[in-house]
Amino acid sequence: MSITTAVRSTLLDFRDVELVFPDGTVALSGVDLTVDRGEFVSIVGPSGCGKSTLLRIASGLESASGGTAGVSANRIGYVFQDATLLPWRSVQGNVELLAELHRKSKVDRSAKAAAAIDLVGLTGFEKHLPKQLSGGMKMRVSLARSLTLDPELFLFDEPFGALDEITRERLNDELLRLFVEQRFAGLFITHSVSEAVYLSTRVVVMSGRPGTVVQRFDVPFPMPRDPDIRFTPEFAELVGDVSHALREGHR
Ligand SMILES: Nc1ncnc2c1ncn2[C@@H]1O[C@H](COP(=O)(O)OP(=O)(O)OP(=O)(O)O)[C@@H](O)[C@H]1O
Ligand SMILES: [Mg+2]
Repeated sequence: MSITTAVRSTLLDFRDVELVFPDGTVALSGVDLTVDRGEFVSIVGPSGCGKSTLLRIASGLESASGGTAGVSANRIGYVFQDATLLPWRSVQGNVELLAELHRKSKVDRSAKAAAAIDLVGLTGFEKHLPKQLSGGMKMRVSLARSLTLDPELFLFDEPFGALDEITRERLNDELLRLFVEQRFAGLFITHSVSEAVYLSTRVVVMSGRPGTVVQRFDVPFPMPRDPDIRFTPEFAELVGDVSHALREGHR
């Protein structure tokens, strides 16, 4: 079934979603998932359980073969694990790309790009080419490019998976700041349980293939989030509970 639209503060409403690939592989089965305005939902699950497939359905790149995959966000941002930058374009040129594809005027898109570049802390690097940037900076460019669309719903597929821990932590804090300031709803995939808990208002655990939601955890820590919560017993306990559910679902 294709993507349907719904009014409400629910931006993503998946009910009993199933996806069977043409070769017969059942990637997803019976997936129930909602993302409301103001929510940042992370998904953790074993490799191959259908997380990327789920995001592709949310973005409209793929159609569910069963159930209803409702998305009512007008503008959707999508950040992949790979920054997917055009190597011959400068930072400014890469950030302007989506606005360009949406046929925004030159003045509009350069103003939007400048604001987004500022938001991700890359002012001064506008003329740099991707090869002159670190992995973390490339990811910032990718974030900035999607921010130019003012997304209501932001989809992230393991965006920081390839980065070292310090860079990842820094980008986690920047993403949290953007979430609080820009007020998009987030759907974030990661293999790191502590990253999921730190960033999210809710963490969803998926089982192995065919992927389905096995458990949900509300994250009680307030936003804006204090980086020091990562060192509290409450945080460690929740990370432990999610990790446990992940192992159970894997069996
Ligand atoms: N086009 C396709 N045809 C057939 N099977 C596919 C296709 N695309 C993906 N799959 C299978 O569907 C399952 C889900 O893939 P998906 O990429 O969504 O997993 P994932 O949870 O994102 O994994 P990872 O954590 O490794 O990124 C996998 O078993 C994969 O092999
Ligand atoms: Mg994936």
